[in-house]
Amino acid sequence: MAGFEDDFEKIVKGAFAPIYPVIAKQIINKCQITSGNCIDVGCGSGPLSLMLAKITDLNIYALDISTKAIELLKDKIETEGLSNRIKPMLNDAESMPFEDNFADLIVSRGSMFFWNDQTKVFKEIYRVLKPNGMAYIGCGFGTAELFEEVKKKMEEIDPMWDENRKKRLENDDASKMERILKEAKIPIYEIINEDFGFWILLKK
Ligand SMILES: C[S@@+](CC[C@H](N)C(=O)[O-])C[C@H]1O[C@@H](n2cnc3c(N)ncnc32)[C@H](O)[C@@H]1O
Repeated sequence: MAGFEDDFEKIVKGAFAPIYPVIAKQIINKCQITSGNCIDVGCGSGPLSLMLAKITDLNIYALDISTKAIELLKDKIETEGLSNRIKPMLNDAESMPFEDNFADLIVSRGSMFFWNDQTKVFKEIYRVLKPNGMAYIGCGFGTAELFEEVKKKMEEIDPMWDENRKKRLENDDASKMERILKEAKIPIYEIINEDFGFWILLKK
């Protein structure tokens, strides 16, 4: 029986496919970190990890709680010959198997809304981030134009797609996320809140 991951994989390979290269470049332009250790939290089948591996020298640790997502990612890593660059990891973001100050860059797209305890995950992100490291966490579609293309395609599959997306953003709006960041004792951050993307940029 096809599950959530199979359905989401069709979207990753279809309507969402053009957004990942754009988001990967935006992250690198904003953070200016192209080497060292990178963690992709809630990587799914790894579309962002794969793009980051292609445009940087980062060693990428792609972490997800879903066995199926990690299996899909392993196949892609093998097909693309990137096994020396991306390490798939089956783990819960609430307790990451990394030492303190491990990562130069932490990224996460589309996962934050699914974390049971967002404060706990942000604490973990901050713990494993190196001093001067940066994290780029949130959800987005790259540009307004790409968002419109995605929306058109997604509404052909699910007419409620944009309504549901907006509800998720209302639940996790900027004021709630500011409270979570305060609870996680994260002092330096910027919230990028645009129609086509909601991102939290952290610095340690
Ligand atoms: C909508 S998918 C996004 C996948 C990918 N980042 C992308 O942009 O295509 C959300 C992912 O977050 C993962 N996830 C949810 N809660 C998690 C947790 N506590 N720890 C690790 N991964 C988690 C899910 O298994 C899922 O693969």
